[in-house]
Amino acid sequence: MSSKDAKIVFTPSGRRGTFPYGTPVLDAARSLGVDVDSVCGGRGLCGRCQIICAEGEFTKHAIVSTADHLSPAGDVEYRYGERRSPLAKNRRLSCQALVQGDLVIDVPPESQMHRQVVRKKAEHRDITLDTSVHLYFVEVQEADMADPSGDLQRLLQAISTEWDLQDLACDPAVLRTLQVALRKGKWKVTVAVHDQSRIIAIWPDLKRDAFGLAVDIGSTTIAAHLCNLTNGEVVATSGIMNPQIRFGEDLMSRVSYVMMHPEGAEEMTDVVRAGINTLIQDVASDAGIAPEDILEVTIAGNPIMHHLFLGISPVELGAAPFALATDAALDLTAKELDLNINRGGVVYVLPCIAGHVGADAAAMVLAEEPHLFEEMSLIVDVGTNAEIILGNRDRLLACSSPTGPAFEGAQISCGQRAAPGAIERVRIDPETLEVRFSVIGSEVWSDEPGFAESISAFGVTGICGSGIIEAVAEMYLSAVVSEDGVIDGSLAERSARLLPEDRTWSFVLHDGEQRISVTQNDVRQIQLAKGALYAGAKLLMDHAGVDSVDRIRLAGAFGSHIDARYAMVLGLIPDCDLEHVESAGNAAGTGARIALLNVAARREIEEVVRRIEKIETAIEPKFQDYFVDAMAFPNKNDTFPKLFAVVNRPGSKAGASSSADRRTRRRRRSRAS
Ligand code: FES
Repeated sequence: MSSKDAKIVFTPSGRRGTFPYGTPVLDAARSLGVDVDSVCGGRGLCGRCQIICAEGEFTKHAIVSTADHLSPAGDVEYRYGERRSPLAKNRRLSCQALVQGDLVIDVPPESQMHRQVVRKKAEHRDITLDTSVHLYFVEVQEADMADPSGDLQRLLQAISTEWDLQDLACDPAVLRTLQVALRKGKWKVTVAVHDQSRIIAIWPDLKRDAFGLAVDIGSTTIAAHLCNLTNGEVVATSGIMNPQIRFGEDLMSRVSYVMMHPEGAEEMTDVVRAGINTLIQDVASDAGIAPEDILEVTIAGNPIMHHLFLGISPVELGAAPFALATDAALDLTAKELDLNINRGGVVYVLPCIAGHVGADAAAMVLAEEPHLFEEMSLIVDVGTNAEIILGNRDRLLACSSPTGPAFEGAQISCGQRAAPGAIERVRIDPETLEVRFSVIGSEVWSDEPGFAESISAFGVTGICGSGIIEAVAEMYLSAVVSEDGVIDGSLAERSARLLPEDRTWSFVLHDGEQRISVTQNDVRQIQLAKGALYAGAKLLMDHAGVDSVDRIRLAGAFGSHIDARYAMVLGLIPDCDLEHVESAGNAAGTGARIALLNVAARREIEEVVRRIEKIETAIEPKFQDYFVDAMAFPNKNDTFPKLFAVVNRPGSKAGASSSADRRTRRRRRSRAS
């Protein structure tokens, strides 16, 4: 080390090196492989390369670091401060600050190119930012009579020299805007490069931010998260009802529509793409950006939504052997899918798992990563067609189960979608059979002061999916409903809430302007739906050779709203420690967002999907048996010891209340006598 060399330690990476005085800090960082962002290529324009000079004596590193060990801030940094906001104390643009002594330099998270994206509580994994689209600012040699080369060739030359990116292709759409951008930017432009291989957009002068959209196309709702591709932040989120609903509530009715109307597939493709374009407009305006600033879209959806979005008829998915047109991930352009983002924008569609287990389930795996754990995970997306994944790092299995729309409030006499006025929480006193409930749109329970005022704008209008689960579970726990799912009319003697209905009974939750009750048929619908769900999970457990699971994740709009305890009381899911049953939120949307922000995750899910074992419930003889057993609450044969250790039902001793438990007790009694 000469007397004109300085030691530098970068935190948090801990990388260190020795550099001659006068070296830009950014260059020192780069040569050590320290992750520092830059769009403008060190021109002091983008502000992405900010570092913090740590001051003090760092005995561990044998360094005394002070702000004086950097060159004083010059014109470029002052101009940056004027144009944007002044740099905070000890903050410098690393491309401008020169080494003039020993230093400890902190690279704050927002300056790291591969920073960790902060995730919501329900989301399990951290995302390392590593997008497929990057922005590069370049200065291009002006057109000159003496140099007859084309503008594109000079642009490519500049990118090669300044950013070391060779042999880039250029999207024809970009070529059309290239000459205007170059001249408008006075030969300074920002290009967006996809996959380090293709220029997909160009802007005059410096462009600091680019955006991407993660879309989950559900059969009921379409959700979209707009993310800043340069820092991973979600800047806007929006959702709409899937406009295909007018062609049929559930998936199979949409397939039937296509079967009966030859032009139906095209109509549904048009409306779903129009729906996504509406979302693009919405999120762009919420974030205060132009739709053209969106450069990439990732798509997750169940197989039928996936096919219809791509313009592929879903007819083959309507009958065995449920063949997908393709199960591979797809790299497409926004133009060929009629998406109104940047005209050079790209689209990544996640791979499908099987004919009934789609790209939404693949996204769910990406979000929950069961393939990385030793514990046995059960992940369920509870929709009209439940998608179920079971497994761990050794093995993953998947199936789907036809639950029908009961969980979404359809086919339930007072059922409705989750909206203000819908009952969502229910409690029944097992002694008096009195009911208290809460509705969406109000924080106040029905037996609390102020309830009537709190709902005056909408009233009590029906019961939503999570409400019907709680209502039936509470009816079971208070013995209004038997294990076989029969409403016990004999209780009419002690409660006016039981009303005869033909030869069955119904139970009144609320008697107001509208009477909201649970009928015998409602209970049957829930039994059918939950029976199908449980039978699917059980079948996977059979194939995996396990009789219990370590963790359960409930995903989807409905899955993430139901109370795990009630889901287990009814036997939607197998017995498990309740603290290990959690909501996964919109796991498919999260997975689409992970794929948007991290290209390695795309390769990961493509590889994982190939090794998932697909189980087709329709051809499994045991499915029907499991389904019949699972019609009982919580199950005819399977015991729920963990659940009943914490939940009581009148008449159930020591909390054990399933038929199987009672049979065991009876057997023990007869042996004893
Ligand atoms: S690299 Fe852009 S301001 Fe330093």
